[in-house]
Amino acid sequence: MAEQTRKILVTSALPYANGSIHLGHLLEHIQTDIWTRFQRMRGHSCYSVCADDAHGTPVMLKAQQLGISPEQMVTQTRDEHHADLVDFGVEYDNYHVTHSDENKELCELVYDRLNDAGFISKRTISQLFDPEKEMFLPDRFVQGTCPKCGAEDQNGDSCDVCSATYDPTELINPRSVVSGAEPVLRDSEHYFFDLPQFEGMLQGWLQSDAIQPEIANKLKEWFEEGMQQWDISRDAPYFGFEIPNAPGKFFYVWVDAPVGYMASFKNLCDKNGLNFDEYWGKDSDAELYHFIGKDITYFHCLFWPAMLEGAGFRKPTGVNVHGFVTVNGAKMSKSKGTFIKGRTYLDHLNPEYLRYYFASKLSDAVTDIDLNFEDFAQKVNSDLVGKVVNIASRCASFITKRFDGKLSTNVLEPELVAEFHLAEASIATAFEKRQYHKAIREIMALADKANQFIDANAPWVTIKDESKQQFTHDVCSLGINLFRILVVYLKPVVPTLAAQSEAFLNDTLSWESSQHVLTDHSINKFKALMQRVDMDKVNAMVEDSKENLEPTVTLDPNSPLAKDPIGETISFEDFAKIDLRIARIAKAEHVEKADKLLRLELDLGGETRQVFAGIKSAYQPEDLEGKLTVMVANLAPRKMRFGMSEGMVLAAGPGGEDLWILNPEEGAQPGMKVK
Ligand code: MSP
Ligand code: ZN
Repeated sequence: MAEQTRKILVTSALPYANGSIHLGHLLEHIQTDIWTRFQRMRGHSCYSVCADDAHGTPVMLKAQQLGISPEQMVTQTRDEHHADLVDFGVEYDNYHVTHSDENKELCELVYDRLNDAGFISKRTISQLFDPEKEMFLPDRFVQGTCPKCGAEDQNGDSCDVCSATYDPTELINPRSVVSGAEPVLRDSEHYFFDLPQFEGMLQGWLQSDAIQPEIANKLKEWFEEGMQQWDISRDAPYFGFEIPNAPGKFFYVWVDAPVGYMASFKNLCDKNGLNFDEYWGKDSDAELYHFIGKDITYFHCLFWPAMLEGAGFRKPTGVNVHGFVTVNGAKMSKSKGTFIKGRTYLDHLNPEYLRYYFASKLSDAVTDIDLNFEDFAQKVNSDLVGKVVNIASRCASFITKRFDGKLSTNVLEPELVAEFHLAEASIATAFEKRQYHKAIREIMALADKANQFIDANAPWVTIKDESKQQFTHDVCSLGINLFRILVVYLKPVVPTLAAQSEAFLNDTLSWESSQHVLTDHSINKFKALMQRVDMDKVNAMVEDSKENLEPTVTLDPNSPLAKDPIGETISFEDFAKIDLRIARIAKAEHVEKADKLLRLELDLGGETRQVFAGIKSAYQPEDLEGKLTVMVANLAPRKMRFGMSEGMVLAAGPGGEDLWILNPEEGAQPGMKVK
């Protein structure tokens, strides 16, 4: 405890401004918040900042979809995110947004310094371009057939089926996810950051304590693969900051996002009179920690320290990487209702349950963390409610009713008290090292001891014995004191429970409070501090998180839906993209060697399309000619074994022989839009 006061700045990764905060994000924010609160309780100066990550293609396209400006969307989302975090007890000194003046200035400063030092170069590269939408396509906005295994609808950079990784230009039959158009290659000049220049520095940095051993090993692999020049520019249209003296060129979002850490802090400095350079200057004596998830290690452990070094700023003291949240043993899933938004959780459950549960599982390792709902309920109920809160509720009413609301002047069992005091050092070490699970284990072992002490002395029995009043008073007072010390240790994890306990104890708890005992001290009336987790509420939360996948009416067991339920739904925006048209079947013929297919020539009122349709079981080709059908006219063409299929026809019926196509009717004309 004789440690000197430290000067610390911590950050959590900046959530993208195009989606809601979910339980995965919350793991990180809760991990950061516990650490920050712990440092502050110990008397250190510890600032924490975060922000919304506003820029990039996905944000830009989402705003277009919603029909609002990206600025508007980002502001709304930022406010929503911030409110969610506050309601989980996550307190940042500043929660900013990367689309800000501070960030623009700092990005330009960093860039100018890198440029002046010769770390920026220009080169023309060729990239996939969407000719309809007139924009370059990031890898994840190109889909097509895997060049390795032939699986369809694979992403631009890797195949989900065979795990191959490739360049989007290698995809067979590529198409733009944005417009469906076939992308073309187009040249453009890009700006590059000379990452290989920093290899030596990074090698040294990774020897320091800045990163976990698993991460250091990962970095070694990257060094072995060889450092590459990093492309830091994107062409318009792009929601971001324009690069100085480079009209139409924007900073790639991963350039301005980490600078956003600095910008959020700068914004705080301007409000609070703090000195920015004391924290970010080359000679800073402050500690700087970034809390991040494992998926963004590359950005934080390679590019970011190199950018900082190259631009003459200090490097992080530590990058603290955590694993991913899984729910009931699996990746969070929208259809199972386990992709749970922070707000949905809050609608049903106490945020401190989650804080406690995550703390009980978090360590300094990069392993994934499973949120198992049975285990969650069991742990919270048995530990927080059954052990900790129970101590106070067993002792408080006697103090209030029989001893005038005052704790005794005697301290019974000094050895037990000493044990509670002593545990401080190892619990503090565990919090400091982010081994929260260890801290929780120790705290709960102490809680068990406190309960055993109360059980052994049974104040509810001795209270009835006039001759044992002093003893009963001493037992209950010690019980309350042990409870108090436990709350000190738990305060970074469950701040609301701690605040309510402080009101009850009539005391303010710092870390140092763990070394004292309250004697001859008035306490307030005890009120229930925490309810047990109700599994019905957990289930209701899961139900609420399911995105309308099940039909709302009870199904007839003979209905085809009973056998083949409707799967993942699509949004209205997705539906609106489908161009349904009436088509006249101008020609229909058998396809050699195909059991199910007919080749159709469809007249769209001027344009003719070839479509292969699996309707041979129901129709002879000659019966089809002249009939009308509904077709998906804007389905990307697909190369099939027999030729190109340029759309899809819709038919109704259970299949086999019963498949219906429209009869020509007055009013329906080829080419007409159906919706
Ligand atoms: N915007 C970037 C970060 C820029 S930091 C300069 C980003 N945003 S994110 O919204 O996708 O993720 C924010 C943080 O949440 C990341 O640290 C990410 O690892 C973390 N998580 C996102 N999903 C997660 C889980 N399912 N589990 C745990 N953490 C997860 O990346
Ligand atoms: Zn594949």
